[in-house]
Amino acid sequence: MKVLVTGGLGFIGSHTVVSLLENGYEVVIVDNLYNSKMDALDGIEKITGTRPKFYKLDCTSVSDMDELFKNEHFDAIINFAGYKAVGESVKLPLNYYQNNLDICFALFRAMEKYDVRNFVFSSSATVYGLPDRVPLTEDSPVKDATSPYGETKVMIERILKDMAFIHKERNIAILRYFNPIGAHKSGLLGEDPNGIPNNLLPYINKVAVGVLKELSVYGNDYETVDGTGVRDYIHVVDLARGHVLALRKLETNPGLVIYNLGTGKGTSVLEVIHAYEEATGVKIPYKFAPRRAGDVPINYAATEKAENELGFKCLYDIKDACLDGYNFQKAELERQKEKEEKKVVKTL
Ligand code: UD1
Repeated sequence: MKVLVTGGLGFIGSHTVVSLLENGYEVVIVDNLYNSKMDALDGIEKITGTRPKFYKLDCTSVSDMDELFKNEHFDAIINFAGYKAVGESVKLPLNYYQNNLDICFALFRAMEKYDVRNFVFSSSATVYGLPDRVPLTEDSPVKDATSPYGETKVMIERILKDMAFIHKERNIAILRYFNPIGAHKSGLLGEDPNGIPNNLLPYINKVAVGVLKELSVYGNDYETVDGTGVRDYIHVVDLARGHVLALRKLETNPGLVIYNLGTGKGTSVLEVIHAYEEATGVKIPYKFAPRRAGDVPINYAATEKAENELGFKCLYDIKDACLDGYNFQKAELERQKEKEEKKVVKTL
């Protein structure tokens, strides 16, 4: 089975490519390198022994997608391409709506023209908005998202549902991710956002390696176990495996299916800090700060549907994820230092 992975050099995309290759799929990657690096392709090759075909293309381009689909005959698409910074999306809503929707429009048009029947969409638990109750099942109401980024997920889910209604021959998996963290054990793939990270674990990683001084814990007066926000943190390697299982499901012609991908366990910010410290032996200095706008107090997944219908079960826990994330961050810092040193030697 030949699979197009858009955004395949990004954090979740690159780990999914590894999982697909390990399970015998043929993979073609498209990425415009907006928020990713070619190093990820080298990492994928080192881990799997295979260097998948790579196209540097922008998925918003209808003509480029047309050309690509004409030359390659895909059996399935997994779409990771898209902007994903929540805060930035509030400042640049038009960019987010246009980019994330245009990517899907170009892919859907190409799917129609070249009769590609299987599509996996990376959605987010953000579509549940402020939950009425937890754990969140796939039947929990989809609400207005708290950011334009989240709203693009809601909109694209809606479009997919409308398409599935009329195209019964098509199979679509909407995967709602909870909080993906961690990195590949090799230290070759992981998440290293430019600038100051918005998300918790990338921030903690930078504190752990000494790049940032201390963590701000946003809010300690929520109605949760210790007052700090509770989330469902899933190891990215588990999440990646979820995509392979979703593709297998699509091979049974189920039409449109929706699954949560999470662990089913809620962990507070303070619990994350303690797990990180225990796993790595590194102390994480922190201070309490006001609540962050748009944050929900608590969310975690109901996992029964994914377990029963996909056979999906997480193999890693929060400590595994913290350790793998830390090791990746250390290795990445070394790689960057080496690159800088090489640059200096060249200019001397
Ligand atoms: C956000 C997005 C989600 C996206 C995910 C990517 C929303 C509402 N959430 O999730 O769609 O998929 O990022 O991983 O759109 N925290 C701190 N200090 C920090 C950073 C975070 O205390 O410096 C706290 C937050 O208040 C929250 C928890 O850590 O309680 C997790 O935050 P974060 O990692 O940013 O993820 P979410 O906001 O849950």
